[in-house]
Amino acid sequence: MVAAILKEKFSHLFPQKQLFFTGSGTSALFLYLKATSISGKQILCPSNICYSVVFAIMESGNVPLFCDVDPYSGNITLTDLQQVIDQHHDIGAAVLPYMYANAIEDLPLIVQHCKEKGIRVVEDLAAALGTEYREYQPGTLGDAAIYSFGRNKHIDLGNGGLLGINTMGEFSIEILRPFHERASLVQQRFERAYKKVLYSTSHLERLESLQDLARNSASSYIGGFLPDTDYVKLLEKRLHEAMSEKKRRCELVSYIDANIIFASRLIQPYAFADGSNIWRYNLLVSDKGFKDKLINKLLEAKMPVSIWYPPINKLFSKEFPPKVIEFSRKIVNLDFSKMDRTAIATFIALVNRQVRATH
Ligand SMILES: Cc1ncc(COP(=O)(O)O)c(C=O)c1O
Repeated sequence: MVAAILKEKFSHLFPQKQLFFTGSGTSALFLYLKATSISGKQILCPSNICYSVVFAIMESGNVPLFCDVDPYSGNITLTDLQQVIDQHHDIGAAVLPYMYANAIEDLPLIVQHCKEKGIRVVEDLAAALGTEYREYQPGTLGDAAIYSFGRNKHIDLGNGGLLGINTMGEFSIEILRPFHERASLVQQRFERAYKKVLYSTSHLERLESLQDLARNSASSYIGGFLPDTDYVKLLEKRLHEAMSEKKRRCELVSYIDANIIFASRLIQPYAFADGSNIWRYNLLVSDKGFKDKLINKLLEAKMPVSIWYPPINKLFSKEFPPKVIEFSRKIVNLDFSKMDRTAIATFIALVNRQVRATH
């Protein structure tokens, strides 16, 4: 039912040929890998991908294969992708997140390269709903796309996701059914605990390990979530508002960028491509001492800042691709979605005070 509504009323946001509502963005990827019988393969993804994507890859019987990223945008590039593909011969799919809703500049070439190598492409739009570029429409080039309505996303309903399919081929809906029917008790228990303990404090770094624990302990909820009428109504309402909210976010980012004192040695703006439905306001902070002090000051003032997304592959290997480290050392982001102008002004003042004190 949800998928039918999305298809009928919001095809500009979800332009794929077929849509399936899922329990989460994670489940959407899991279901895609299952439904296309990708198993026992390597799944290429950038090292700074959301850990729950890795969880879906492993749960589906595949292994993650990590790739470096551009040190300024945090997004995967054609060169980085080619390097990994050249060294491996058993890659089933590539999962490509739009970092903070920023454009994957090389996407058309990346998709073409993957096609030539028989690798499927899943565009990960979990943090990029409503993003549109002049050059191409996100979500239409890959074989599939995933979206999330989970915590802290553009549309935060606590849970829910979407799988959009562009190339049908051997994709079978039938294979999805047993997974969809598994709306398990564990899911419900997880939701209850999660909402109680974590929801309102989800930005604080010190709680991130707790979030990991909660999410990982929910392994058996993958696939199931049956939305009720209120959920569907709320989703529709928020999707109708999505484009005005996008405009508001863009204006806020321009305002912050215009008022922060950027000092090239210390702190630089993060450049979003036109058309991005900006997920978080980002700063690139070069000096580690300055960054630590800045984050402490911002957290003391209860600003929702984080260093999301950290490289994930430390769980799998001691070696990191070099550029992902460079990028993740610099990034500071602000979840400005619920901040009013006063809170934004406080953020700007705190950053500028720190810059002045250091300069
Ligand atoms: C880039 C990215 N991909 C996928 C996901 C997974 O979405 P969900 O939380 O709905 O499982 C998330 C969010 O957690 C994400 O940030």
